[in-house]
Amino acid sequence: MTRVAETDLAEAERSIQKKDPHRTQGKSMNAASKVSAGDKSGPMKIVCLVGSPHGRRGNTARLLDEVLRGAASRGAVAETVFLRGAEVRPCRGCDRCHIEGRCPQRDDFAAIRERIMAADGLIMASPNYINQVSAQLKAFIDRCCGVIHCLGFEGRYGAAVVTSGGGPEKMIADYLNQFHIMTGIHPVGAVHATMAEMPDGEFTEAVRRRAFHLGRRLVGAWKTGARYPWVERRMAAFHARMAALIAYRRQQWPFEYDWWQKHRGL
Ligand SMILES: Cc1cc2nc3c(=O)[nH]c(=O)nc-3n(C[C@H](O)[C@H](O)[C@H](O)COP(=O)(O)O)c2cc1C
Repeated sequence: MTRVAETDLAEAERSIQKKDPHRTQGKSMNAASKVSAGDKSGPMKIVCLVGSPHGRRGNTARLLDEVLRGAASRGAVAETVFLRGAEVRPCRGCDRCHIEGRCPQRDDFAAIRERIMAADGLIMASPNYINQVSAQLKAFIDRCCGVIHCLGFEGRYGAAVVTSGGGPEKMIADYLNQFHIMTGIHPVGAVHATMAEMPDGEFTEAVRRRAFHLGRRLVGAWKTGARYPWVERRMAAFHARMAALIAYRRQQWPFEYDWWQKHRGL
């Protein structure tokens, strides 16, 4: 059974006090062909981020539900964070994350980030808003600049869900999966739907099947530690780019330079 709960951010704040926020940071840059995001004796834990202001009643959340049904059929448990009910302010570009390893803004971003770090998988879900993700989700993505530079979600598996009025959706799904790669998450695919093609706003059987199988694939990949060569190639290229950037910025970004020296042998 799918267990989907709206996140309780106060509870999340309490639980993250007990966790090591950098538990993924000790891994070698030359990742093995299989990765583990933690203990696999229990069910896979998935966090979903929904960027739609329509929340759980929106088209995107309804399509996500089909993905979660597939994930639940392989035993996964999931919680969904609806960004419309959270406060994640836009990045101010202050560079504190690079300089000190922390964001000075006090809102819900840190709690959501730590929930992802405590999970095995991340599903990013957004409507098409003028050929991009929604502003709510983009704000979260921009706030992940420090996560990206230090590959903070490494070892997890991901997927993307997108709906649009008339299309396109694929380029937005690709963008979300590229975000996954930049944070160290291994994406397994995406599902998207053009609502104008859905009779009476209901997803067709074909779309529902694709969504269901995406959920199953996500859990299967986590269980087996599967790696896709195209993802490995993009990840390796991105890691090399980050290493060069952090080395170049060693004076300006001491936190990230120290982190790369300590954990990646820069
Ligand atoms: C501000 C805004 C911008 C949108 N831009 C596009 C667009 O560029 N292309 C498109 O096909 N649909 C666009 N749509 C339609 C939504 O993507 C579509 O209705 C989607 O399924 C809504 O998902 P939701 O119910 O989860 O919010 C837009 C809707 C809004 C409100």
